[in-house]
Amino acid sequence: MTTTHDPRAASSADELTAEQLQERFDALIAADQRIEPTDWMPEDYRRTLVRQMSQHAHSEIIGMQPEGNWITRAPSLKRKAILMAKVQDEAGHGLYLYSAAETLGTPRDEMFEQLMSGRAKYSSIFNYPARSWADMGAIGWLVDGAAICNQVPLCRASYGPYGRSMVRICKEESFHQRQGWEILYTLSHGTPKQKQMAQDAVNRFYGPALQMFGPPDDQSPNSQQSMDWKIKRFSNDELRQRFVDMIVPQAEALGLTLPDPDLAWNEERGHYDYGELDWDEFFGVIKGHGPCNQQRLQHRIDAHENGEWVREAAAEYARKMQERAARADTDTAPAGSEQR
Ligand SMILES: [Fe+2]
Ligand SMILES: [Fe+2]
Repeated sequence: MTTTHDPRAASSADELTAEQLQERFDALIAADQRIEPTDWMPEDYRRTLVRQMSQHAHSEIIGMQPEGNWITRAPSLKRKAILMAKVQDEAGHGLYLYSAAETLGTPRDEMFEQLMSGRAKYSSIFNYPARSWADMGAIGWLVDGAAICNQVPLCRASYGPYGRSMVRICKEESFHQRQGWEILYTLSHGTPKQKQMAQDAVNRFYGPALQMFGPPDDQSPNSQQSMDWKIKRFSNDELRQRFVDMIVPQAEALGLTLPDPDLAWNEERGHYDYGELDWDEFFGVIKGHGPCNQQRLQHRIDAHENGEWVREAAAEYARKMQERAARADTDTAPAGSEQR
């Protein structure tokens, strides 16, 4: 890469006019380079990212609930340890994403506030209950599977901190999907009752998992702008198609069926056709009328309030450490160093 073509090399941001700043931003995007926190960016780009990244973080954190609920009821010590690790991973994903979103200038407290007051959204899938142990399989296989399809292209998102956080998240999501698949595989090769339990879980999670990619393209007005900014690389429908194509052979290998009578290989398109999804249900859940919306939010609020003493203790500890470090600095500073 030559410096003459590096849009950043022109001059420092304060010397540029608004127009030049926009040009430089556009050039970075066009050259598939990353926008970093210190770079100038259009306000709409910043706002879109804060919204998307914080919603993503909220989804990771709220998403801990349906599975957290099954940790104490996992059928063996090994299953329990795996599920605990998985739920803990999701907490980590939330933390990477909150940290990445904070680089855009919105404090974490503000993002928490938006979630707890019900103003911020999170993925609608987590407003469905986890009714049986097989749901741990269906969630891992379908929900984490859909998350992977959505998130792998986000590793190349134009905003640096977002793309980089997605790399590690995607590695962990692959493990999540495998563990879900393995739970379903075991159940589907167990007793007829166990197989039925696995099928029932897949029946309930299939539709909502397909809806995780968002509304159809013609009802997703902001998608094109996100694609122009190279935050998103594929449309909702493209990603959904990719997911369907991925899970059909996996369902066959599991010995389970996907609850869609219209599902069929389309030779001409080279893809599987699938039936219309229940979008009224989807928009209803988004508006707060899903089976668990209130419960999920209340649980988050309670956890936040119960954790207040931990936050206070951590802040006090950090303050003490800083004070101690400052004192040690003055004690050991060589003569004349006060001028620094
Ligand atoms: Fe995750
Ligand atoms: Fe996950």
